[in-house]
Amino acid sequence: MPTSLHLLLPWAAKPLITNAPMGFFAGGSLAAAVTSAGGMGFIGAVYDMAALDRELSKAASALSTSPNFENSRTKEGLLPVGVGFLPFAVKVEDALPVIEKWRPHSVWLFAAREHSDYTAWAERIRATTEGKTLVWIQTGSVSAGVEVARLVHPDVLVLQGSDAGGHGFEKGAGIISLLPEAADALADAGFGDIPLVAAGGIAEARGVAAALALGAQGVVMGTRFLASKEAIMPHPVYQEAILETLDGGQSTVRTKLFDNLSGPNVWPEAYDGRGVVTQTWRDHVNGMSLEEIRKLHKEAEGREDKGYGLNGRVTMWAGTGVGLVREVKGAGEVAAGVREEARRVVEGLRTGI
Ligand SMILES: Cc1cc2nc3c(=O)[nH]c(=O)nc-3n(C[C@H](O)[C@H](O)[C@H](O)COP(=O)(O)O)c2cc1C
Repeated sequence: MPTSLHLLLPWAAKPLITNAPMGFFAGGSLAAAVTSAGGMGFIGAVYDMAALDRELSKAASALSTSPNFENSRTKEGLLPVGVGFLPFAVKVEDALPVIEKWRPHSVWLFAAREHSDYTAWAERIRATTEGKTLVWIQTGSVSAGVEVARLVHPDVLVLQGSDAGGHGFEKGAGIISLLPEAADALADAGFGDIPLVAAGGIAEARGVAAALALGAQGVVMGTRFLASKEAIMPHPVYQEAILETLDGGQSTVRTKLFDNLSGPNVWPEAYDGRGVVTQTWRDHVNGMSLEEIRKLHKEAEGREDKGYGLNGRVTMWAGTGVGLVREVKGAGEVAAGVREEARRVVEGLRTGI
C-alpha cells in the first residue's frame, strides 16, 4: 500500500493539488498561495540561486500570516513549500546552501543526466535537513520510475505523461496508460509504498478525478497555473496566448526545436519539450534552415512583445490541456476550486454507477 500523502503533508486537503515547479514562472507568491489553499506549492529554480533565495523569502513572508503554520513553519520547522531543481543545470553544491538556509518541506528533482545523479542529490538533501525534507522525483516512463525507486526511494514519485507542458521524455505515453502500469511495476518490484502523483495534461477537475482512478493520490498542474495571477510571466502576451489557445493536441507540439533556438541544446538527450505552435514551428515544417530560424527568433526577441504571441517566434511552453484553461484566477482559488470540483466529480461517479 502506498504511504498516504496526507501523512507527509498534514496541512493538505484531499485530493492533493500541486503546482509544477516551473522555472522562471512559479515563484514564492504562487507557491505560498497554493500551500495556503491546502495544496502543495512549489517554486521552480533553474540556474540562479540568489533569485531562488528571494522567492523563498517571498513565500516565507506570505505564509507568515497563515493560521495553519506557526511563523510560516511546519511542526518540524520546515517552510511548507517545495523547490524544484534540474540536476543537469545546477550543481548540488550550489543548491545545498539555499536548502540549508530555508529548510523547504520538499525538494523536487527532474531531468538528471543519469538516474544515479538523483542518488547523490537525494543523499545530500536528506543529510542537510536531517532527513526531514521530502524528496520528490518526476520521471516519465515505467522503467525510469522503477529505476528511480530502486536508486533513491523518493518520498513521492511524480509520473509525467507526454501531454505535459514544458520538458519531458521525448518518447512517452499519456498518464492513462503510464500511471497504472508504473503503479503495478513498482508494486511488483517492492516499491508499492511510494505515493504516486500524476502530471501532464491535467487542467481541471475531470482530469484530477481520472488521475485518482488511475492510482495517483494527487496531481501536478503546470499549464493551468500559468493562467494564475501569481505566475511570473515574461510578457502579458504569453498569458493571453494560453487563454486563447484551444485544441491542445493540434495547437501544441513536442519537439527539440524549441531547445535549439538560442544556441546548442543543453538538455539531456532523452528530453524534448511541449509548447504552443508558433511561427518558428511553421517555418521549420516548411523547410526553413535552423540558421534562418535562429536569426528571426533573435530579431523577434527584441520586439515590444519579446516575440511572444500566437504569431510570434519565441517559445511558449504549454501542455495539451491548454484548451481547458480559459481564465486567469488567483492560484489559491485555482487549487481549492479544482480540488472541490474534483470531489464533486468523484461523488457523481459513485452515485451514477
Ligand atoms: C511553462 C512550464 C515550465 C516548466 N518548467 C519546469 C521546471 O523548471 N522544472 C520541472 O521540473 N518541470 C517543469 N515543467 C514541467 C512540469 O513539471 C509538469 O510536468 C507539467 O507542467 C505538467 O503538465 P501540464 O503543464 O499539462 O500541467 C514546466 C512546465 C511548464 C508548462
